[in-house]
Amino acid sequence: MESKNLTKQPQKSGQTVDKRFKIIDITMKRNHYRQDALIEILHKAQEAFGYLEPDILEYVAHALKLPLSRVYGVATFYHLFSLKPSGKHTCVVCLGTACYVKGSDKVLTALQQELGIKSGETTTDKQISLLSARCLGACGIAPAIVFDGEVAGKQMPENALEKIKTWQTED
Ligand code: FES
Repeated sequence: MESKNLTKQPQKSGQTVDKRFKIIDITMKRNHYRQDALIEILHKAQEAFGYLEPDILEYVAHALKLPLSRVYGVATFYHLFSLKPSGKHTCVVCLGTACYVKGSDKVLTALQQELGIKSGETTTDKQISLLSARCLGACGIAPAIVFDGEVAGKQMPENALEKIKTWQTED
């Protein structure tokens, strides 16, 4: 199945494809695009995406008019930030309030049991990284999970395990 990578840049200034970028936009705006708010903005971005990948770092660097090297420097210096995980596939389970009350914690538990890893870890064969986030910006379809950049809504343990199985059985 073709997977659409949602961590793409805005099409035009002010218009984003992925709602999670909107969360970053709001945070930057609230901080008046101040460069010294970088840590707070990256923190918000990580809450929304589960980790920081190059697209996000570039996006923030551009918006704050900071050199990308500076943004990478901060993202790699602080332990509270994690960069893109090493698994071939990534699965980010939302544990934000709307998703949590609809059982996303149970989905995460089922995935952890199936994969034998905890959130934030990658399987030993490097196939799958499992992560969690706080609000993916898709509360209307809670509980939400992002599989390889594609947001899936109304996820129950069965759906999520089925998806993971397709990754486990591919060549
Ligand atoms: S709380 Fe999960 S998408 Fe908002």
